[in-house]
Amino acid sequence: MGRIVALLNQKGGVGKTTVTVGLASAAAEAGHRVLVVDIDPQASSTWVLGLDPETIETSTAEVLGKSSPQGAIFESTWSERIHVMPATNRLQAREQGKPKRLRDALTPLAEHYDAILIDCPPSLGNLTTSGLTAADHAVIVVEPSALGLRGISAVADVIDEVWDDHNGELELAGVIVNKVPAVSGEADRRYEELTRIVGKKAIWQPVIPQRVIVNQATGERRPIHSYGARSIEVSTAFDQLWKRLRKTLR
Ligand SMILES: Nc1ncnc2c1ncn2[C@@H]1O[C@H](COP(=O)(O)OP(=O)(O)OP(=O)(O)O)[C@@H](O)[C@H]1O
Ligand SMILES: [Mg+2]
Repeated sequence: MGRIVALLNQKGGVGKTTVTVGLASAAAEAGHRVLVVDIDPQASSTWVLGLDPETIETSTAEVLGKSSPQGAIFESTWSERIHVMPATNRLQAREQGKPKRLRDALTPLAEHYDAILIDCPPSLGNLTTSGLTAADHAVIVVEPSALGLRGISAVADVIDEVWDDHNGELELAGVIVNKVPAVSGEADRRYEELTRIVGKKAIWQPVIPQRVIVNQATGERRPIHSYGARSIEVSTAFDQLWKRLRKTLR
């Protein structure tokens, strides 16, 4: 089984980037090595992991062109165990690229990492298709709200399409539920609804609570694990989800 994982949802702001970098942080804490591949022109994970997208010369945009991926790998400021293949806004011009190119670039890198995590943009266009074509596993990130669940079947359809057209290895590994409020009847009902849509077994445990510290960590470009007791609930959730992901990759 391969080690390349695409984290996706067409819905914006559900936490694709937060989950990607949270898993990377948990991996580094556990002594594992990961490569975060940013294919979102917003370059959020690139920025959060300490790089400046404005000054990057070789990014995933160039790798989707013809550049060698070696020149597009940087160490994050978080840990020597977390490497980044950064995004720049030049990716916008790559919406038309050949989906297989990213796969060709990432496949030979996989043996150097415990996992390669692809942070997808909030769309189901060509960039997400490239991410899914490169991936062995797809993980959908959702929010337990009415708008957060809308369109989830379109995401599943795109995974099917990529499986049909470009990548017979791809499988839906699971669904990670993020931004779960402490007490909310509405969120509970949406969680039930999600269970009906994807099945109980597809939802990975634990869910990630909604906490201000997560937002603060994003703004301060710091790993969630660096806040000690203040973030223990969230960082423990990421530790467990990282373990769950490792089980899938083994
Ligand atoms: N569990 C959480 N608790 C509180 N805030 C959160 C949580 N998860 C994410 N956020 C905040 O929500 C915002 C959006 O998260 P994030 O950027 O990870 O979403 P995204 O799906 O990657 O967005 P986009 O679709 O734009 O790429 C960020 O400010 C982030 O800090
Ligand atoms: Mg994002």
